[in-house]
Amino acid sequence: MRDLSLHVMDIVQNSLSAKSDRIDIIICARPEIDILEITIKDNGIGMDEDFLKEVKSPFKTTRTTRKVGLGISLFEASAKSASGELNINSQKNVGTVIKACFKISHIDRLPLGDLAQTITTLIMSQPDVEYVLNMDNQKECFVFNSYDIKKTMGEVPITQYEVIKWIGEYIDEGIKIIFGGVLDEIHS
Ligand SMILES: Nc1ncnc2c1ncn2[C@@H]1O[C@H](COP(=O)(O)OP(=O)(O)OP(=O)(O)O)[C@@H](O)[C@H]1O
Ligand SMILES: [Mg+2]
Repeated sequence: MRDLSLHVMDIVQNSLSAKSDRIDIIICARPEIDILEITIKDNGIGMDEDFLKEVKSPFKTTRTTRKVGLGISLFEASAKSASGELNINSQKNVGTVIKACFKISHIDRLPLGDLAQTITTLIMSQPDVEYVLNMDNQKECFVFNSYDIKKTMGEVPITQYEVIKWIGEYIDEGIKIIFGGVLDEIHS
């Protein structure tokens, strides 16, 4: 995978397949301990204990079109190559939480990538889902909630070009404020 935003896209696809209607994406940088944490939390169908034990393996999948499922194992591989790890918690009919951490300064840590594009693409493809993006650097935090935007917009659909464009710029601004100078690929 080329960057973290693409991993987020991939993991959120799992949440959508699991019939979630609220998906929280929490990206937290802890510069004092050199760690970046990415958490994706959903309220979908979840996994039972036995399935969960094996889900990090590429051979565990409920896909029917091929026998391997790569989303989680690739995300774990990216975390491990940056001295991090990946953990999953899930409860049947409650939801799933996937958390990956990375050493920020590790040479193999993937860059954040175009997170605004990931979020706007998700909104356009499944506008009825509530997406919450929370970014935090331990000093300041930024929250975006697609449901709040929908309420504010009233009759105007969230998928309208101007609205999507505004959301993208708003998230980009948030990324600069929260991660500028904290993640070295992002300039404040
Ligand atoms: N958020 C989730 N809620 C419920 N089940 C999940 C969730 N995420 C993953 N799973 C289950 O774990 C399996 C493995 O997920 P993974 O992303 O690794 O592969 P995949 O989605 O099957 O295939 P790919 O990601 O390559 O398209 C899925 O097939 C699904 O059954
Ligand atoms: Mg997947």
